Amino acid sequence: MSDTAWDHLLLDLRLATLAGNAGYGLVEDAALAWKDGRITFAGPAAQLSGNPAELAVTVASAAGALATPGLIDCHTHLVFAGSRVEEFEQRLQGVDYADIARRGGGILSTVRATRAADEERLLSESLPRARALVAGGVTTLEIKSGYGLNADAELKQLRVARRLGRMLGITVRTTLLGAHALPPEYGDDREGYIDLICDVLIPASAAEGLADAVDAYLEPIAFSAEEISRVFAAARAASLPIKLHADQLSDSAGAALAARWLALSADHLEYTSAAGVEAMAKAGTIAVLLPGAFYALRETRLPPVDELRAAGVPIAVATDLNPGTSPMLSLTQAMNMACTLFRLTPEETLRGVTVNAARALGLGDRGRLLPGMRADIALWTVDHPAELSYWIGSQHVRQVHAGGRALLP
Ligand code: NIG
Ligand code: FE
Repeated sequence: MSDTAWDHLLLDLRLATLAGNAGYGLVEDAALAWKDGRITFAGPAAQLSGNPAELAVTVASAAGALATPGLIDCHTHLVFAGSRVEEFEQRLQGVDYADIARRGGGILSTVRATRAADEERLLSESLPRARALVAGGVTTLEIKSGYGLNADAELKQLRVARRLGRMLGITVRTTLLGAHALPPEYGDDREGYIDLICDVLIPASAAEGLADAVDAYLEPIAFSAEEISRVFAAARAASLPIKLHADQLSDSAGAALAARWLALSADHLEYTSAAGVEAMAKAGTIAVLLPGAFYALRETRLPPVDELRAAGVPIAVATDLNPGTSPMLSLTQAMNMACTLFRLTPEETLRGVTVNAARALGLGDRGRLLPGMRADIALWTVDHPAELSYWIGSQHVRQVHAGGRALLP
């Protein structure tokens, strides 16, 4: 065997490559190979240059499975302690999410639990959630801070996120979400807390290599456009890309703010106006839709999907996994909800958790099955890629590879 041989070659499978700007990029009777963590062949088996046994160190049959790029969950808050099950019960009795937040529950209740947990405890509580996502085909995961709201606890959350990536062999992209809620010890000193984010949290997390991006929560119950603009200026000074929780519960002109700062993504967007959509299109900002939060809060206002399509804004889909508004442990579940609740097509949702999710994280090396891309691959026992969105509570993952390494089985 020559040393140019591939590490691994899979035969007897179909591919949804997501090549090009539309369609699944389906290839029947396909082969898929990689070497040194990168895809080296993704196409019809008939185009292999020789006898498969001589092309790769290991050759295996995928028994007719469908291969997709490893899924990318580009918006989660999965590192937290405790749960909010008692608020779930309150909301079922009719209490509003925003009211719970105003009374010091909501995000602040998870802040208390997260501050109280030491790093090992936070890791052991978060690990099963990350494992559940990987078991559902996820190989790249974004994790936000935002339940610490002081230097120690924010950095602790980000360190746990990084450790999860190393432990599971997946890519974890970390996002500093210091501007998630005003911590109680600041009383009404909002400016003082924004100072802490700009002068301490952003520089410290950047210096320790703990943050890949900066996010903020724009909402009357959270932070204003002026406050967030200061945070974004500090992010820019630290050369960190920007994301924004925008227009989830009200039209706060969040999409336009995100666009003004050339954000990678604006997320939620239920109340985004036509002007906001236009601004995102011009800025190249990705729309991240989060049907889990819409579902759990029993929202009725739909994100402007037709307008996003018409303007050519790329749409991503994510779990928003968090204890308050989206305790959802499956990205294919989010795909199903994006179809059923938001009327995305199954093709749009698959692009939304692959190519477009990669763009929402600023990652150009994944999200498609093409030579040169990272060998992040999920194999599914389904006949058609639309089934990834169709089944509810599916268990169709057969194998998961990240950077060419088998994570499952
Ligand atoms: O994305 N919108 C703000 N942040 C989360 C909710 C966090 C929480 O309630 O704990 C979200 O929905
Ligand atoms: Fe969120």
